Amino acid sequence: MRIKNNFGMKKGLNNNHPYLNILIMRKDVLSILDVEDEIEDIINLGIKLKRDFKEGKKLNYLREKTLAMIFERESTRTRVSFEVAMTLLGGHAIYLNRRDIKIGERESAEDTAQVLSRYVDAIMYRSLNKRNLYDLAEHAAVPVINGLDEDEHPCQILADLMSIKEKKGRLDGLKFVFIGDGDDNLTHSYLLGCVAVGMNICIVSPKKYWPKKYFIEKTLDIANKKNLDVILTEDVNAVKEADVIATDTWVSLWYENERERRIRDFHGYTVTTEVMNLAKKDAIFLHCMPVHYGEEATREVVHGPQSIIIDEAENRLWAEMALLIKLLR
Ligand code: CP
Repeated sequence: MRIKNNFGMKKGLNNNHPYLNILIMRKDVLSILDVEDEIEDIINLGIKLKRDFKEGKKLNYLREKTLAMIFERESTRTRVSFEVAMTLLGGHAIYLNRRDIKIGERESAEDTAQVLSRYVDAIMYRSLNKRNLYDLAEHAAVPVINGLDEDEHPCQILADLMSIKEKKGRLDGLKFVFIGDGDDNLTHSYLLGCVAVGMNICIVSPKKYWPKKYFIEKTLDIANKKNLDVILTEDVNAVKEADVIATDTWVSLWYENERERRIRDFHGYTVTTEVMNLAKKDAIFLHCMPVHYGEEATREVVHGPQSIIIDEAENRLWAEMALLIKLLR
């Protein structure tokens, strides 16, 4: 966890400047473990914000705050949910793509971080290269949020855990099963996030796509202290007794050149109605979207009665609003 003192602009200011009185402890959220002890708080705040907004309450807790959003890859949910979050909170979001800002090419992560820290209150970054994300965070005086890198997707897992809590009323003790690419950024975040909130987790994936060693070890460390099950298997029958079934694309943004091989390798790992029927009767289905119909899941499952994927996408907004409030208020 990285704790940082805001403002980067502190040096050189007059001692009477009002900003010197509002130094706040801030931190980056590069991994879900950066908010390990605050996950349930963030989820509960997200649920409350959603309810308050639907009851017509104003949520403008971040007036005059600005978020820079850097996207080196395409996005629908992450971009729109963060931008709307800042709008509803009374703040502002600035979208920057690779035509505007080329970290590591046009300008170093260090210089970009220091300059942006003088303009904005937080930076959300979807990076092509995790090294740049970590360099940016190291040199930024303001919190940096990971909007997806090759290894983790912390904002998605917050929304997913919030969605599970809304539907199931609890997280503790549930059985979560992920079917598909075990070495996916989302799978790594599921591993860490699920055990952090007391859920048992099972990853069903061809062995050569099992999660990276670091994430398995970190997950086991947490799970062992809480007496939780962590299962890695190639057997789809492990879905039995699942409360939640999740999947994601077999060909994530970083592996587009491996598409044909991956489609072959993941044959037999599609979430079908038959697979859903192996789980508990009231199991729910999650997918972070975008969906590749007929690959990781069938249309019947994706739009079937157990699917909550549109609520899950909506909850990106509320969970991110909660996270922004926690980091910036
Ligand atoms: N799930 C997700 O991150 O969606 P986008 O890629 O559209 O942001």
